[in-house]
Amino acid sequence: MRDAAPKTIYLSDYKPFGYDVDAVELTFDLQPNATRVKSRVAFVPKPEADGSFFLHGEQLKLISAQIDGRPVSPELSEQGLSCQVPQTPFVWEAEVEIDPAHNTALEGLYMSNGMYCTQCEAEGFRKITYYPDRPDVMSVFTVHINGPHPVLLSNGNPVTRGDGFAEWHDPWPKPAYLFALVAGDLVAHPDDFTTKSGRKVDLNLYVRPGDEGKCAFGMQALKASMAWDEEEYGREYDLDIFNIVAVDDFNMGAMENKGLNVFNSSAVLASPETATDMNFERIEAIIAHEYFHNWTGNRITCRDWFQLCLKEGLTVYRDSQFTSDMRSAAVKRIRDVIDLRGRQFAEDQGPLAHPVRPESFQEINNFYTATVYEKGAEVIGMLRRLVGADAYSKAVDLYFERHDGQACTIEDWLKVFEDATGRNLDQFKLWYSQAGTPRLTMKEAWDKGTYTLQFTQKLKPSETTPDPQPQVIPIVAGLLFPSGKEAVSDQVLELTEATQSFSFEGLKERPIPSVLRGFSAPVVLENTLTPEHAAFLLAHDTDPFNRWEAGRSLAKANLLNMIRNGSEPDESYLSGLGTVLADRSLDPSYRALMLGLPSQSDLATALFDAGDVPDPDAIWTACETMGHAQAGHLKDILPILFEENQVAEAYAPNADQSGRRSLANASLWLLSLTDGLDRARAQFETADNMTQQLTALSVLLRAQDGASELRAFETQWSSDRLVMDKWFALQVVQAPPAEVSATALALTAHADFNWKNPNRFRAVFGALASHHPGFHSASGAGYNLLADWLIKLDPINPQTTARMCAVFQTWRRYDTGRQAHARAALDRMLAVSDLSRDTTEMLERIRGDSI
Ligand code: PHE
Ligand code: ZN
Repeated sequence: MRDAAPKTIYLSDYKPFGYDVDAVELTFDLQPNATRVKSRVAFVPKPEADGSFFLHGEQLKLISAQIDGRPVSPELSEQGLSCQVPQTPFVWEAEVEIDPAHNTALEGLYMSNGMYCTQCEAEGFRKITYYPDRPDVMSVFTVHINGPHPVLLSNGNPVTRGDGFAEWHDPWPKPAYLFALVAGDLVAHPDDFTTKSGRKVDLNLYVRPGDEGKCAFGMQALKASMAWDEEEYGREYDLDIFNIVAVDDFNMGAMENKGLNVFNSSAVLASPETATDMNFERIEAIIAHEYFHNWTGNRITCRDWFQLCLKEGLTVYRDSQFTSDMRSAAVKRIRDVIDLRGRQFAEDQGPLAHPVRPESFQEINNFYTATVYEKGAEVIGMLRRLVGADAYSKAVDLYFERHDGQACTIEDWLKVFEDATGRNLDQFKLWYSQAGTPRLTMKEAWDKGTYTLQFTQKLKPSETTPDPQPQVIPIVAGLLFPSGKEAVSDQVLELTEATQSFSFEGLKERPIPSVLRGFSAPVVLENTLTPEHAAFLLAHDTDPFNRWEAGRSLAKANLLNMIRNGSEPDESYLSGLGTVLADRSLDPSYRALMLGLPSQSDLATALFDAGDVPDPDAIWTACETMGHAQAGHLKDILPILFEENQVAEAYAPNADQSGRRSLANASLWLLSLTDGLDRARAQFETADNMTQQLTALSVLLRAQDGASELRAFETQWSSDRLVMDKWFALQVVQAPPAEVSATALALTAHADFNWKNPNRFRAVFGALASHHPGFHSASGAGYNLLADWLIKLDPINPQTTARMCAVFQTWRRYDTGRQAHARAALDRMLAVSDLSRDTTEMLERIRGDSI
């Protein structure tokens, strides 16, 4: 039955728990269908406690409960239990039975390929035992595991182990969401790391037998992360051992459980033959992200789930700094901005818009969003830009010093910045409470040597932000003379008013502005670049981000014109692009990014923003035309770029090699449009790495001339789960728009389509949803097929279902015919009885009730 009245939870209702938890002891007797969990928890009433005592607990069979050794009979509900308790310190003991083998939701204790595994964030611990499952209750855990498995793991340090049992103790107080247990027939890839104070830490990456060859890179990334956090943030690791486990069935990317990170195998396992350069880069970033959580998330955690961005925004910011240091800072920034615009701006524009710190939710699992993570990271970046790098370090040091061991709020975070810098951050705090993407317009004036820039900021009122106030927007700006020489180098203009001017004096010539350098704030800059201005910046800007941005804005303006009035690709854009591509002083990966076009859904966003109704077929056609125009215009240089960026050395997934491969592969794509498929076929035959093999196959499939290679690929990789995910996804991604749904449907009949595995489900349906004209097909086939499968998945895995529902968030942008199909699909899903709370909340928000 659907929860009669799904409950909305409000930040403003926060109340501390009435008890401290001194210590927790857990004993697990592992059995696939009947695992017994004994808990022993020492509670100490707080002076202000009101005497009520409630423990969360869901889908548990209570076997017995005792207080101070005497049996008690608590009152049970679907959500947990309440009980009469003493007003003095007492020991709660309970035994429950759970059924990990039938836990398909992958939350709590579950099984994956015979291995036991847990996932407790955000509220999964309550499916393991009765407990105050809230992040502000922190305690020290001791865990006994009994089971016949060679590997038995939990958080903290190992205490004892023997045949069929192990004991772990975690000395650092933590909330229950960071609890983890793993048991199985796993093999370790061991290593170690000596911290800067000289402590030796054992490191292990645990994988299924057969995956040993895919561990080296993840381990190296872990060691690099540990060294970086010491160097850049002064943060040392704090246990004797750090374990990572790879698991095939996982709803998200990875989880930062204290001392025992659990990873989706796609986010950690890699070898040159099976993983692409992009996979390697993503793995390095996720390993760093989870490791960095040890301080930003674990040692200092969140008071309540409304503060999720406290740990996620900061940790994403930290992992992006790490990647910038390890690889190319400009390339990382460009990729992050592409991602932010594609996912977060779309979220801000539609029915799922919410502030970085939401003020209410029904199901917290639905708030692990691009806004909380990526915009949350942008907010940290702005703060650092405003106060400067030194003050940022000082403030963060103070944060660690003041709040170590605590469960904190955004107010605590901002206060350390106020105390360290003397700045008032009241207005800055609006970034946490106002939803939506601010829009900037810019005007220029020139008067006898004085150049003035005037900015106006606007934020559209929305449901969560009905009366938006001006925010603090750091605009990094530089000025260039017409010669291309820099007149004024980077300055942070602090926009705080709705409209505000900034003047530069004593200039001998009227300069050309380059604003929002490095994408210094997550805003939309409107109507600023004329084609001439953009062409100038594309040729001369000294800021690599803005130089790329200039090319991007030319491409975008050009594409929008093509879509709106059928105009032709613009020569000045193409020749600017040609100049950049020929400039060998520029990093190959940067040049490859220059070739990229805005995504089709970004173009739809832009059209919708401008009051137009986006037509996915017209957008697709314009992008195809533009690709051919690029290929035609660059036909002389492309073969050269392809050849000179071949990598002769042995494969290594580093920035230099992957940059060269990305430019060679981008060239291969374009060459296939004008110069046949021989190069792609040859590359498919000879590739010794997945990056080149997969690109070659993609090119052939896109040309609808890759059937035999597709079969060869399947034969070669049929026993590799992660590569087969690529095989599934690729066919959908490269299908012509009219065949996307049929292709996805056909794949669901494939013997290896294990729809209960989130990676495999996402391979097919994530690919379907990412195919803009295919998913938003006028026939409604894309919407209908996805709805069928979400209905099927919801009862077994609400979390993955609910996350995938988000792909419907843009449905109101499109024409009435498409809207009618989408609405019918949404209503059909909403009509299902027993729909999960996760999915119900998402669908209701997306559907809305107005027509
Ligand atoms: N906390 C995890 C991260 O950011 C994400 C996650 C959330 C994983 C919920 C599982 C469940 O890395
Ligand atoms: Zn995280």
